[in-house]
Amino acid sequence: MNKKSIKKASFYINTPMNRRTNTDKEITLAAHDAFRFHTTLPNYKATPLIQLPLLAKKYNIGNLYIKDESYRFDLTAFKVLGASYAIHILLEEKPSISTFCTATDGNHGRAVAWAAKLFDKKAVVIVPRDTTPLRIHAIEQEGATVIQVDGTYDYACQFAAHISIENNWELVQDMAWKGYETIPAHIMAGYTTLFREITAELASLSSSIDIVFLQAGVGSFAGAGINYYLDMYGENRPKIIIVEPIEADAILTSLQNGKIKTSNGNSETIMAGLNCGTPSLGAWNLLKNGIDASISIEDYYTEKAIRELYYPTGSDPRIYAGESGAAGLAGFIAIMNDPKLRHLQEILTITSSSSILFINTEGITDYNSFQQIIRKNDGGTPF
Ligand SMILES: Cc1ncc(COP(=O)(O)O)c(C=O)c1O
Repeated sequence: MNKKSIKKASFYINTPMNRRTNTDKEITLAAHDAFRFHTTLPNYKATPLIQLPLLAKKYNIGNLYIKDESYRFDLTAFKVLGASYAIHILLEEKPSISTFCTATDGNHGRAVAWAAKLFDKKAVVIVPRDTTPLRIHAIEQEGATVIQVDGTYDYACQFAAHISIENNWELVQDMAWKGYETIPAHIMAGYTTLFREITAELASLSSSIDIVFLQAGVGSFAGAGINYYLDMYGENRPKIIIVEPIEADAILTSLQNGKIKTSNGNSETIMAGLNCGTPSLGAWNLLKNGIDASISIEDYYTEKAIRELYYPTGSDPRIYAGESGAAGLAGFIAIMNDPKLRHLQEILTITSSSSILFINTEGITDYNSFQQIIRKNDGGTPF
């Protein structure tokens, strides 16, 4: 368990309206079809949907699917789907843009740098104080200038917004706030591609899913998923569970308060991509109206999930997952093990016939940290 933890694992059972509220940003999101654009990118290939039948058996569920975004281009994470689409739209409207700027915990900044390079533009990427040297290096490798600030992710976002105005750079942030909503909506539209791929992959297996675990930072990714499933299935959509780190539980805190709230956690977590203090305004209505349950988990569970995937059960295939990538599965493992969360199995009707989907949103994005995690012995449970 994280020694510096000041909060306890928690959960919230939501009563979703199961429909979109058609705010401007939801209309913007619905109007865009990024899939066609993505298929035109060099080396585009749908990432695999992997079935783990023996892990499913171990946890006594029907089917366990993992959409593996570690194969997304050569970027190891899904984030480029959003950044590339938003940059493409911006350049269609304003081809003279020379520099894109963003704040990031790692993956989004690397994606913005990659997309800027693709269109022959510059990128400046702001990272918070906790970003690891290997993640900074990966962003620089894409040709971006990286500035590390002495603050949290929320502070890095404010810094990026200011510095962009001062320098006439174009801000490509994956988080919306009042007055900055269109670009984040385009980023969310970009994420939709992976959910479309999943539908096609499940259809080819003549299968479907009952429950989806989505990990969240600011909630743009989860909001995109909810938007997609509400669009496709309305109230017959799969159940959606949100997973966050205890110390960055922005969505859980906001659901508990009925409005957008900043987490009072201390931002200490190894799940760097999820280490965000405040939900995105662009995702909030979708989250509120489409989440069934929201849980916060200890770092211990994501380490355990990484090892479950790296040391597969029997003949199941091996999957390489990063700390944020494994977080969805980690939430499931917590519900199946932790006495404080176990009754959620009943509330969410997790049974021996459930088909459950997880998204490995990142592969190995920090090799050193990954090595440490896979070498650790499980050493029992944290409770
Ligand atoms: C690997 C990974 N997974 C999930 C997320 C969560 O996305 P969002 O911030 O849109 O909730 C992030 C965000 O950076 C990420 O890097």
